[in-house]
Parts: sequence; C-alpha cells; structure tokens
Amino acid sequence: MPPYWGLGFHLCRYGYNSLNNTKQVWSRTREAGIPLDVQWNDLDYMNESNDFTYDKEKFKNLPEFVEELHKLGMHYIPLIDPGVSGSEKPGTYPPYDEGLQMDIFVKNSTGLPFVGKVWNRVSTVWPDFTHPHTVDYWLRQLKRLHHEFPFDGAWIDMNEPSNFWSGSSTGCPDNNLEHPPYVPAGVDGGKLFYRTLCMSSTQYAGHHYDVHNLYGFTEAIVTSFALAEIREKRPFVISRSTFAGHGQYAGHWSGDISSSWYDMKKTIPQLLNFNLFGIPLMGADICGFNGNTTQALCQCWSQLGAFYPFSRNHNTDDGIPQDPVALGPAVVQSARKSLLVRYLLLPYLYTLFWKAHADGDTVVRPLFFEFPSDVHTYDIDEQFLWGSALMIVPVLEEGKTDVSAYLPNAVWYDFYTLAVVPASGVQHTLPAPLDTIPILLRGGSVIPTQTPNVTTTESRKNDFGLLVTLDEDCRATGSLYWDDGDSLNTYADRGYNLLNFTLAESQLTGSAVWWGYNDMPALDKVTILGVQKPVKSVFVNQASKPFSYHTINKFLKVENLQIHLHSTFSIHWI
Ligand code: NOJ
Repeated sequence: MPPYWGLGFHLCRYGYNSLNNTKQVWSRTREAGIPLDVQWNDLDYMNESNDFTYDKEKFKNLPEFVEELHKLGMHYIPLIDPGVSGSEKPGTYPPYDEGLQMDIFVKNSTGLPFVGKVWNRVSTVWPDFTHPHTVDYWLRQLKRLHHEFPFDGAWIDMNEPSNFWSGSSTGCPDNNLEHPPYVPAGVDGGKLFYRTLCMSSTQYAGHHYDVHNLYGFTEAIVTSFALAEIREKRPFVISRSTFAGHGQYAGHWSGDISSSWYDMKKTIPQLLNFNLFGIPLMGADICGFNGNTTQALCQCWSQLGAFYPFSRNHNTDDGIPQDPVALGPAVVQSARKSLLVRYLLLPYLYTLFWKAHADGDTVVRPLFFEFPSDVHTYDIDEQFLWGSALMIVPVLEEGKTDVSAYLPNAVWYDFYTLAVVPASGVQHTLPAPLDTIPILLRGGSVIPTQTPNVTTTESRKNDFGLLVTLDEDCRATGSLYWDDGDSLNTYADRGYNLLNFTLAESQLTGSAVWWGYNDMPALDKVTILGVQKPVKSVFVNQASKPFSYHTINKFLKVENLQIHLHSTFSIHWI
C-alpha cells in the first residue's frame, strides 16, 4: 500500500538550484490554491552531486524547510542516485569509506571496486544490492541523511544502472560476457555495456551479465526496507528501473520523455502496461521532461496527469520553468480544477490501491479488462479507466475542445452534469472545454468521495460522499477501504475499515465488513444518478429526510446526513 499522502500531487524540477527557488515555486503553487502534498528536490540539493550530502550554502535551511512542510501536513522527497563518489579524500566521505570497509561495491574482473562515472566530479562506484551487507550499508547512509533532514520518501534514479562511460574509463575486458556471440538488435552501440557497467564485473549474486536487469529492482527492495526501518511508516519509493515484482516495493515514473504532444499521448499505454505488470503506482513527468513545454500542452497534460496514479510535474534543468503558475492562469485553472477532482476521488483511488495490494488488481486499466468480449475495446489507448467505474478521456491534440470516446455497452454518466450520456456501444463526442477533462461514470457503481482540500492531510478529515450510478437494472455496488493512511501493515494487522455498499430496488445499504480503525469521518452526502421517476420521499434508516431531485438530469441528492459508517445504514426512496 502506498501512503495516502503519496496519492496527492507532487512538484519537482531539476535545477531549482537553491532552496530559495524551491520555496518560491512551492509557495506560489499553494497561493494559487492548487492541491499539493509533496515537494521534491533533484540532485542539485546535493553537495557536488554526491549522494547523502546537501549543499550547506544554496540549500542552507533545508532541514527547517522539511520541518515546515511537516507542520503543514506535507511531505518531502529527495533524489538518491545508486552510485556514490569514488574519489573523495579518505575520511571525508563515509558512503565511500564505509562501502570499502564493508566490501559491498560491485567489483571489476580483477576484484577491485568497479569504477565508472555518473554525476560525481571524478568517478563513481556502485553498491551491490544483491550483497547481504548492503542492506546494512544503505540503511546507515539513509539514516545519516535522514538525521540531517527528515525526508519522507526516496526517488531512486539512474539505476538501470546508468553510467556516463561505457564500462570503465578504459572500457571493458575482452571476454565472452562483454562480447557474447549474439547481441540482440537494438542494443545501443551494439555493446551490452554501452553506458552501463561491464558485464564481467561481479556482484554477490553473480556476474553483472546475469543480474544487470535486477539492479534497480534490488535497489528498490533495499531502499523500501531502509525507509520502513527509519520512519516506521509506509515507505514511498519511486524508481526509474523496474523488474517483475517491483510493485510490491515501489512505484515508477517513465523517465526522460520529451515535452511533446506525441510523448504525452504515449504515456497512456505506458500507464496501462505498468498496471498489467503489477506496478500500479506509476506516472510520467507532467508537461514533459526534455525541451520546453507550452501553455497549451501543459494545460492538457496537467489534466491528464491529475489521473496518473503517481502524479508529479517535473522537468529538466535546461527547460523553462513548468510549474503551473510559471505557465500562467490557464494552466493554473486546469491544474487546480483537475487536481480538485482527483482529491475528491482519492477515497476511491485509495480503495483501488488496497484492491491491488490485497488481490493484485489493476488500478488504472484498459477498457478491454472490463469489456473483454467487445473487440472494439482491444486497441484503445487514448482513454482509460480507474478501476471499473471511472473513465477518463483526455484531450491529446492541440486546440481541441471536444474528444471522441468509445463507450462500451453500459450506462455512462457525465461526471460534471451527472446526466446520463445517451450513447453506448458507439463512438461518441464529448465536450472538452479548455479547463475541463472529460470523465464518465459507469452505471452500477458506488464511488466513495471526500470533500477536497489542498493537502491530503486536510482532505482526509472531511466528510465522505457517495456517487451512486444506476445500471440498466437500477442496481449498483461498491466499497471503501479506510485506515490511517501511513502506518505499516494496517491491512495485515486488521487496523482498517472496509465498507460495502449495495443498491437495489430503490434502497442503498451500507455496512462494515470489517471495522478496525476508529478515526473515520462521517458520510454526509449521497448522490444517486439515473433515478428516472421523480422522487416523493427519502428515508434514511426509516426516518424521512429532505432531499433534492434534478428533474432534467435525473439525479437525487441527500445531504447533511452525518451517518456514522460503523453501523449499517439504509437510504430508501419512493
Ligand atoms: C535523470 C532522471 O530521469 C531525471 O528525472 C533527473 O532530473 C535527472 N536524472 C537528474 O537527476
């Protein structure tokens, strides 16, 4: 389970270059009323790009800033590269000295630490995350850094592992691991060691040749374990390299994509794939990473990115600033509006993450997962679902103010008007004014919501709502998983609440399948979509209640309920 705050909006860039700049962007985002949970820093917070240090001049008050974030219920994540500097003076840089003492660096074919180069001034060596002692080594380094400033998660980059040299300064030895008889087509430079470690270098688990693709995965496992040890809360790790099984420990972002309409579109199939791979906590750099984004692109991308399970705006050091405020009022408006919808829907998203955690389900899914017998859904990769109930149809072309969506056979409702969309089994055009991302709700669902606020810490305190959408048989079902959002093992230790909701024959029933956590806001509002006949009376647990019924869009709203979800309740209308 990711921590609840990890599902909030994240802000980052390479090249803030100082704490002052970081704070400026952070405060203008908050002042614009854009929901924001997590501030990040790229490697420019470090001293000379060395892991486990920070620049005591340009980032002088970093510890105080992190404390300030915590006071506001916000969180902070720094970048950590896997390779550490291999050329500091002995006695000045513990990450290198301790790695040598503990003998945990990847070795070259002569048994010495393998030396390459990444961001460090002179040279880089790499911890071997398959070595049992590296767990202790990495924990020590992270703990020391955490002592300096109490960060909340880890962004693990460059862990393919990436190297600016191909092999060491002199390349790689001439042997059959470096030059096997067959090299797959498409391997960069025709060499397996192109911009990475030599294949004949050795790790505890074997030759790098055999474990190369596990480097990022093993780093993610060790980092996730270390964070849980240090913070005694749920680890939040986002990694560039992944492998099958990674989703148990960490999430993923798709690296250095370009700020283009084409790359934005391609993030959807990436998202769908990673959910199928069992790595649901996934996102791409909102507004793109390389090159300069534009206002129009960033406006649409902010809307699409508000529906990435991992939602972060990040870009390169040589592009223009692309936080929403930097790009002007239109981007601010789109980011704020779409993120407020995200925050409203977080109880639903969190419940999907619980489902993924408990049953290996997908969070974001392609349409064919829900409509497997509809061949028209098989190649759709420009619209996607959150769970079974919510369909997102982003604008992917410049200047468009409507989108064409395929609506599989079901009842569909417009999220904004709550009216039924009079189409199914066909291609249908939906309005998409510049500040609005089209979202549809599928009939038959009960979607838990919560009044949004600008941090998840605050929105978690608000009352719940339910969006209930009737299917063709006037039925609906859904559930809500709730816990403190940050403790370890709440599901295994049964410190959670699980509510099931069922609607049939004009009666919605809610009951707790499990109640193991007491701090849960009340249910205050229920909206039932697709109620065809005007409503005369509404009864909540048999008592008559005021309500409103929209005769044109045909939805029923019952508010000010203050239902304590611990006890079974029913809402019935005639
Ligand atoms: C590569 C990462 O993919 C990118 O997101 C980051 O900004 C740079 N490394 C610099 O750390």
